[in-house]
Amino acid sequence: MGYENILVETNGRVGVITLHRPKALNALNSALIAELNRALDGFETDAGISTVILTGSERAFAAGADIKEMQGLGFPGTYSDDFITSWERLSRFRKPAIAAVAGYALGGGCELAMMCDILLAADNARFGQPEIQLGIIPGAGGSQRLTRAVGKAKAMEMCLTGRTLTASEADMYGLVSRVVPLADLPAEAMKVAETIANLSLPSVMMAKESVNRAFETTLSEGIRFERRLFQALFATLDQKEGMGAFAEKRSPNFNNR
Ligand code: HXC
Repeated sequence: MGYENILVETNGRVGVITLHRPKALNALNSALIAELNRALDGFETDAGISTVILTGSERAFAAGADIKEMQGLGFPGTYSDDFITSWERLSRFRKPAIAAVAGYALGGGCELAMMCDILLAADNARFGQPEIQLGIIPGAGGSQRLTRAVGKAKAMEMCLTGRTLTASEADMYGLVSRVVPLADLPAEAMKVAETIANLSLPSVMMAKESVNRAFETTLSEGIRFERRLFQALFATLDQKEGMGAFAEKRSPNFNNR
């Protein structure tokens, strides 16, 4: 459907978006971000899709925002055009998003990966916020999400020096959920996506909303929020199906209602 910088496919109830600017290590230019947002809009409203995988190539998830495109920008323009705000679309995606990261995830690439809900890394993945080496700082949430993920000590060193993390460091520090061999990354990501896609979509979406609320509110308000969603799920047919299936010792057949 007219995409030039990404590939968009579906596999059953799973949508797959592959960043695809191979000559530029998937550097994220405004055309790519607009296409990504369009693909996310489509998957979000498609009742046939439950979850999305965002991935790149074996060499690069994305080596950051397109430096050549940014090079000539000035302050009044970035301000009046609200430069970078359009990148936040992924963080507002309501269905689960799985980042399958191989190779470089730098700058805006690391930021996009951190906007996803589950981050799977290949053993060759490298994560970093090297913007400081260009005379700027992270602009799509890197200093905030990285700090929440790995803590101040690691985030400061990465943001102040541009040091990159290996996949095993990222695993040890809690930035990724798991590291898998490079060759296994697509299949592992699909396995996770299919596991989620076979569950009840309302419960999956509410679980995502509830975990994300932990970053935005106090413990008591977060627990209250969780409780209301928990109670609301007893209004779904899928709660009856899930518990009924358990009692009858069979697999559930969820209908997302
Ligand atoms: C534009 C990029 C690019 C980028 C790589 N390329 N990264 N183009 N923007 N971010 C291009 C190179 O110019 C080159 O094109 C081609 O991709 C291959 O890259 P090489 O540098 O030749 O590859 P290699 O020697 O293997 O080095 C890989 C690399 C290096 C370590 C990833 O490319 C690199 O340091 N890239 C920049 C990383 C970075 O600073 N990212 C943060 C960007 S700022 P040609 O045409 O020469 O072959 C950012 C801000 C976010 O993300 C703000 C909010 C979103």
